[in-house]
Amino acid sequence: MDLEKLLSDRLAPAFAAVAGGPVDPLVRRSPRADFQSDAPLALARRLGRPPRDVAAAVLEHAVLDDVCESAEVSGPGFLNLTVADRTLTDLVAGLVGDARLGVPPTAAPQTVVVDYSAPNVAKEMHVGHLRSTVIGDAAVRLLDWLGHRVVRVNHLGDWGTPFGMLIAHLADLGEAEAAHELSMGDLDGFYRAARAKFDADEAFRERSRQRVVALQGGDERTLRLWRLLVEQSERYFLTVYDLLDVTLTEDDFRGESAYNDLLPGIVDDLDRLGLLVSSGGADCVFPPGFGGRDGEPLPLIVRKSDGGYGYPATDLAALRQRTGELGATRLLYVVGLPQRQHFAMVFAVARAAGWLCPPAEAEHLGFGSILGTDGRMLRSRAGESVKLVGLLEEAVARATDLARARNPELDAEAAAEIGRAVGVGAVKYADLSTDRRKDYVLDWERMLSLDGNTAPYLQYAYARIRSVFRRAGTDARRDAPIVLAQPAERALTVELLGFGAVVAEMERSLDFHQLAGYLHRLATTFNAFYERCPVLRAPDELRESRLLLAELTARTLRQGLHLLGIRTLERM
Ligand code: ARG
Repeated sequence: MDLEKLLSDRLAPAFAAVAGGPVDPLVRRSPRADFQSDAPLALARRLGRPPRDVAAAVLEHAVLDDVCESAEVSGPGFLNLTVADRTLTDLVAGLVGDARLGVPPTAAPQTVVVDYSAPNVAKEMHVGHLRSTVIGDAAVRLLDWLGHRVVRVNHLGDWGTPFGMLIAHLADLGEAEAAHELSMGDLDGFYRAARAKFDADEAFRERSRQRVVALQGGDERTLRLWRLLVEQSERYFLTVYDLLDVTLTEDDFRGESAYNDLLPGIVDDLDRLGLLVSSGGADCVFPPGFGGRDGEPLPLIVRKSDGGYGYPATDLAALRQRTGELGATRLLYVVGLPQRQHFAMVFAVARAAGWLCPPAEAEHLGFGSILGTDGRMLRSRAGESVKLVGLLEEAVARATDLARARNPELDAEAAAEIGRAVGVGAVKYADLSTDRRKDYVLDWERMLSLDGNTAPYLQYAYARIRSVFRRAGTDARRDAPIVLAQPAERALTVELLGFGAVVAEMERSLDFHQLAGYLHRLATTFNAFYERCPVLRAPDELRESRLLLAELTARTLRQGLHLLGIRTLERM
């Protein structure tokens, strides 16, 4: 059990007695004691009593003697709690034998669909797809580890009118040449060439239009060319996933086209439910509460005036399939914040149609942009959006150079391994360690630095512990008693006991910067411990205890980084 929970469980009945009803004790880490509870303040307002009196009354009712060394009213009316050393050593001993490090599997497993990555066929993945892929992968890893049934969905953009032009271009090039170009990963080049012809050449435009009609009509030859485009793009995306070290596989592709057959039914059912409004020849739903700039109601267009279905219709069909056929009760969409309104409207329409009802809920995990060091949207020198692979390759090259510079004896293979784990880890960590709703600056120096809230800092802390064990020539003795001789040992123990609470909190929030912040605190606390408390040179009893604390730290760092999709290294 983690400490927050232990203290909450002890305080809750006392609060209930004072309040005459349940109150969340709001236990959190405190700069003044180990933990504090802020709940007396709000309760006092509610009861119209002085906060310090309320806090004192809660203390009177609370049974804390056996777990706390001290519990006192502080400031305007907080409770400051200092945990007894005995409690710490008992709890940490429980962690030692626990492969899950104090994180129990969920008691209520759900089917969760995570919609993420979702690049577009015959288009380069850009940094927005990087964010979606990295955040989605972390969500999948966490929820899976907690015991949920997780369905990964890569909602590939593989349908729509641009495919007419792409297929026409493909047909012009010849299949072999087109496959060659696409397999080189030059998706944007292919797209641009098609676009240029489309803009310049009326005959090509006409061929493109015919291809759209043929594609929608199920013409076998056109479909084959379309499939070639999709397959080549998928193959390329898989190489990016491999480099990025994420858990997405080819089985997870479920592109927009997968819902084509369901689209007419969506429109019919919305019509039957009386939700459909014809507006300018298009079939629309006007979910209440959505207005344009002038306050006029905003439509979700489910069938365009030309009879075609678009992005919103596909998302409605996908949602309905997820709650219906897949039986999902939690739907997550890891997509940039510019699509916030789109998802809010899709969810509203789905609710109105009865396709999204409790206990099922949908959530848009929106994220901000990646900026260059100039504070503007990240762009290549030519002013185009930055290619994701280029960015990853640069990270790996930089990290490999840094590893070699730090350790000139490193052989090429070892340097490459370190460069890859650190470079890719740094990119992912830079993303996951900031609140995802915010924009962040891609700053190579900062994210590859061995100091600060970075992947290399955490990876280095881990490797450092592993080197202690190489020198010790043995593992930690699991049954060794933990001795809290120094404040630094105590501080490390308190930190180690906090992993469960952080993970539990993230199950709901999926705010990975909190896990990152925790891991950074843990590594910092470990480094302070390691500076002050000799391990291998300590007398036997202390040595065993400190080895055990070091081992627990390594396991926690490794598990935490693993949840973020970041590799640890035995040496760096
Ligand atoms: N392909 C889209 C894009 O690149 C993202 C799709 C997100 N997922 C969804 N279900 N709409 O912007």
